[in-house]
Parts: sequence; structure tokens; C-alpha cells
Amino acid sequence: MPATVIVGAQWGDEGKGKIVDLLAQDSDLVCRYQGGPNAGHTIVVGEETYKIRALPTGIVRGKICVIGNGCVIDPEVLIAELDEFERRGHSTENVFVSGNAHLIMPWHLAIDSASERRLGKLAIGTTRRGIGPCYADKAARIGIRVQDILDPKILRQKIEVALAEKNLWLERVYETKPFELGEVAGRLEEHAQRIRPYVADTSLLVDRALKEGQSVLFEGAQATLLDLDHGTYPFVTSSNPVAAYAAVGVGIGAKRLDRVLGVSKAYVTRVGEGPFPSEIEGPDQERMRELGGEYGTVTGRIRRCGWLDLVALRYAVRVNGIDQLALTKLDVLSHFDELPVCVRYELPDGTETEDFPAHQSDFHAARPVYETLPGWDEPLDTCETIGDLPANARSYVEFVERELDVEVQLVGTGAERTNVLTRA
Ligand code: GDP
Ligand code: IMO
Ligand code: MG
Repeated sequence: MPATVIVGAQWGDEGKGKIVDLLAQDSDLVCRYQGGPNAGHTIVVGEETYKIRALPTGIVRGKICVIGNGCVIDPEVLIAELDEFERRGHSTENVFVSGNAHLIMPWHLAIDSASERRLGKLAIGTTRRGIGPCYADKAARIGIRVQDILDPKILRQKIEVALAEKNLWLERVYETKPFELGEVAGRLEEHAQRIRPYVADTSLLVDRALKEGQSVLFEGAQATLLDLDHGTYPFVTSSNPVAAYAAVGVGIGAKRLDRVLGVSKAYVTRVGEGPFPSEIEGPDQERMRELGGEYGTVTGRIRRCGWLDLVALRYAVRVNGIDQLALTKLDVLSHFDELPVCVRYELPDGTETEDFPAHQSDFHAARPVYETLPGWDEPLDTCETIGDLPANARSYVEFVERELDVEVQLVGTGAERTNVLTRA
């Protein structure tokens, strides 16, 4: 398919990077369309591990990489990543950055942390990478964009205007240190030199690639339940990871997207605060965390672990228009005798529903109704196709397909690049 969106179907860290890396083999371009360095996508290639935050995962396979207008960019993180890939022998000459993407400035990081501190018990548990404050400034039309670095005079002027307001907030509201214009501008001017060659009209570039029949992957960061509009607000990120945003975040027409591939773990994890109906109670939570290595790529925080939630996944299928699913980390479940799967929620009024509650108060109080499936002992690493899976593992996958009415096209059986099963 020429244009495929890869979207997280849960609360992030589903293994999107690994699936993008797999599909990138047969693609020409890989585009990030939203989010920023709050993302952490891990690719394991033999002895090499790549933890990617800003660049599209296609960089590992040397594909054309686009950072779209819907993204927010921390220049320091981007430059460090570009340098690292160059150092590891990967060319970055095919990286293109939209001039309309917004820049994460030092005050965004400071405000993110200060605001979380201030919220105390009500904190969102952000990655503290300045994502929310940067998107807030974008919406308020006072942001600084990548294209501003092309003109040092404009850049300094914009920093000056921004600082006049941000420093007031930092000092008076958050009681923290202000920034000094000369220092911030000087540092950004240095970064500008390094980033300038990558700035391009990425909308035009992707449009031309599609017209020429090239294959384009749209790599989602974060995930459906972290979506600003469709996620578990306010415990969400500040962008729109849902598949439809791929068109907006790259600058192509809505009808250009051909296929949506959802990525879901065979269970669920969540980093940060917020409701989580199928969160595991008791020692199995810790066990799953250890087996799955469930620690944040960006912040090292523990990921909360839960049983697969089909109510939430059904919702992800709906709001993204998921055509097929990749079910990752099935190997992690090999060590459990029984596997509860959440098939419905019980609501406060005693009714049960298969549909994700539309209102927060229902969702916060929802209790999971489980169906328990038998586990399996056999290791999965000798399987070559989904059909080779042990009977109970295959039944687990088929159960998911039946409940969601979506085909599971790929199954993850290990972190390594090659540990993915296909249909045939
Ligand atoms: P992303 O943010 O969606 O790209 O996911 P992350 O990279 O943050 O987290 C997924 C983690 O699981 C990474 O450490 C991957 O190396 C690992 N992983 C991905 N697929 C599999 C799988 O099928 N099995 C196992 N055991 N690990 C996997
Ligand atoms: P990838 O792309 C998991 C979570 C944070 C927090 C909330 C808001 O690797 O799947 P933010 O810093 O975005 O304002 O934080 O969103 N979060 C993620 N959780 N994976 C991610 O990215 C995440 N990016 C943000 O933990 O709960
Ligand atoms: Mg991640």
C-alpha cells in the first residue's frame, strides 16, 4: 500500500518503532506527523539498540525521513540524535524537517516541570520534555517555528517577545529562575546552523513521492488513548496521535491515506497518571513488568501493566479506522498459566458495555469484566508464521480478531528486529 499509517492503539510503547522498522524495508519514506521527544521508539538489530526520540524510525534503514509540521522539535534532542546516527555510520542527508513544525524552547521544559510540580497530586505525569507548553504556544499563535531559524534577526525578535512574557510566568507564578535573552538566543543561533540544511517543504516532498507511486509510512508517536481529543483527557499528551492526523501533520489530503495499521501489545501498559481499568492487582503486575522490560525509554519510569483491554482496543479500531493489527510482545505472556482479557466494562449503574464510555466519570469508575483464556508454555521463538504458534497462543490471537473484527496481521515474539510473525 502506498500510504500506511502506523498508530499506537493503547497508551503508547506498543512497539510502533519495531513495526515501522519492519515495514520500512519496503517503503521509500517514513514520516513523523505529531509529538516530539516525549516519544521513545526502540529498535533492536542484533547487538545494536537504537532508542529514537525525534527522528522517524526509517533512519535505521537509511530511508527518506520526514519530520512533519505536526511535530514539535527540541533542537538539542534533534541535533544529538543526528550526531549519534552520523557517529554510528548512518547518513542523515535524507532527513527533511518541516519549516512549520514548532520548536520546543528552554522555557517550555521549565514550565512543563514547574506546572507538574504545582499540580502536586493532580499531576499528569508528563515526560517533562516541554510538549504541552510548546503545543499551547502553537495554539495561542505565539510559538517559534523551525522556519524562524532561517532568519537570525526574526529569531532573536521572537525570542525576546516570548521571554518578556515567559519570564514573568516563571518568576511570579512558578517562582523559578528566568531566562536570559542573550544566552537563549546565542544557543539557538548555534543550533540553527546545524538544523538549517534539513529544513524543507515537506508537504510538497511527500505529495510528490505519493504521486510517483512511492511507498510512504506515517509513524505515529504516543497513542490513541493519549490523544488530546480522543484519549483519557486530561491524562493525555498535547497532540493528536490518531491516524487521521497523519494527513494534517504532514500536509497531504485526507484521502491520500490508504491503510491504517494499529499496534497493540498483547497486554497493556501505561506510563504516567490516569485511569487504567485493566491494571493488574497483585504480584502479576511486577512479574509482567520484569518479563516485558516495562520501563520507560525516555524517562526510565516504570510502566504500569494490565491485561489486554478489548473495550479500549475496540475504541481504537473505531477512532483510527484500523484496518489491521500488529499484536506485539506475545512472548511476554508465555509465562502465565491463565490470561484474563477484559471484554466489557461494568459501569457504576451496574450495566455492562462493550463500548468505551463517552464520559470521563463513567470511565473512571469502570470495572473490567474478564474472560480468562488458557496460557501456553511453549516458547514462541521457533515459530515462523502466525500459523506456527502453539494452539493456545493462536487461540488468544483469534479471540482478539473475533472480538474486534479486525485481522491480526503481525505478531511480535521478541524485541529483536526479526522476531515478528506474519500470516504466511
Ligand atoms: P514504541 O514507543 O511504541 O515504539 O515502543 P517502545 O520502543 O517504547 O517499547 C516497546 C519495547 O518492547 C521496546 O523495548 C522494544 O524493543 C520491545 N519490543 C517490541 N516488540 C516486542 C516483542 O514482540 N516482544 C518483546 N519481548 N519485546 C518487544
Ligand atoms: P511513545 O511514542 C508512553 C505520556 C506521559 C504522560 C502523558 C503526557 O514512545 O509511545 P507529555 O510529555 O506527552 O505531555 O506527557 O503522555 N506519554 C507517553 N507514554 N509512550 C509515549 O510515547 C509517551 N509520550 C507521552 O507518560 O502520561
Ligand atoms: Mg515508546
